[in-house]
Amino acid sequence: MSDAAVPASDPFLASLRGTRVLVIGGTSGFGLEVARKAAGAGARVVLVGRDRGRLEGAVSALRAFGAAAGGAALDATAPGALEAMGEQLGEVDHVISTLGGAMGGGFIDADVATIRETIDGKLFANLEVARALAPRIAEGGTLTFTAGTGGSPATSSGAIVGNEAIATMVKGLAVELAPRVRVNAVAPTWTETGLWRGLDPQELEETKTSMADAIPLGRTAEAAEVAQAYLFLMTCGFITGQTIAVDGGISLA
Ligand SMILES: NC(=O)c1ccc[n+]([C@@H]2O[C@H](COP(=O)([O-])OP(=O)(O)OC[C@H]3O[C@@H](n4cnc5c(N)ncnc54)[C@H](OP(=O)(O)O)[C@@H]3O)[C@@H](O)[C@H]2O)c1
Repeated sequence: MSDAAVPASDPFLASLRGTRVLVIGGTSGFGLEVARKAAGAGARVVLVGRDRGRLEGAVSALRAFGAAAGGAALDATAPGALEAMGEQLGEVDHVISTLGGAMGGGFIDADVATIRETIDGKLFANLEVARALAPRIAEGGTLTFTAGTGGSPATSSGAIVGNEAIATMVKGLAVELAPRVRVNAVAPTWTETGLWRGLDPQELEETKTSMADAIPLGRTAEAAEVAQAYLFLMTCGFITGQTIAVDGGISLA
């Protein structure tokens, strides 16, 4: 194939130009990388996070690169918060959510409250996102959630149930919202993001090294690599109901 046959720019990414992209959890980690890439493709991005300082920092950093960026500091799990934001925003094209957390412990040794809170923060928080915002998504738009891989039911009980529940939820929503809106999820494994900002530097390095040893590709991901999968799901118009693992093969090992 001659160079002339290669298009100068990716037509799929180009489809994001001028679209409105709402990133719930857009002030850090995967969400911030998605916002950067979408803004780089010419989308207007709106970031959501609870911490006002982090939100302002992320929005000004994007604007410094000429991006059309705005944001809202709110707790997406607070009753009515998403509906109120949706009313203010009006129609959007793409909604991304990275809501969810992590937990260690099995079904017996972790307490029930922790397991319940983890499932709640993953499945029900994201179900509320879908219910509040799906009606605001324009025809041809997308809803993309965050699941996860790695760990085992015996050592990450609530997290595994939550991640599997996201994969099940996207299958249901994909059919319920078709053909108007496509619904998918990205499933990363351990990646250095703000999720781990509570670890001290030595603990962080040790975890990163042991995860790299367990991952067939021999390293942990960059948050930007994981973000690529969200962009793919947002722009490939014939994919819905899927959860894509971006995990270096750990779920196969
Ligand atoms: N990183 C990993 O190792 C890993 C592995 C597998 C799965 N995951 C999944 O990835 C997601 C976390 O993404 P990340 O790793 O990029 O973490 P992160 O860097 O901590 O980003 C989380 C984002 O969500 C926002 N957020 C959290 N709770 C919120 C709430 N109630 N309302 C509004 N905004 C909220 C945070 O801002 P504020 O804190 O200011 O609210 C931040 O912008 C989770 O679903 C997690 O299960 C992560």
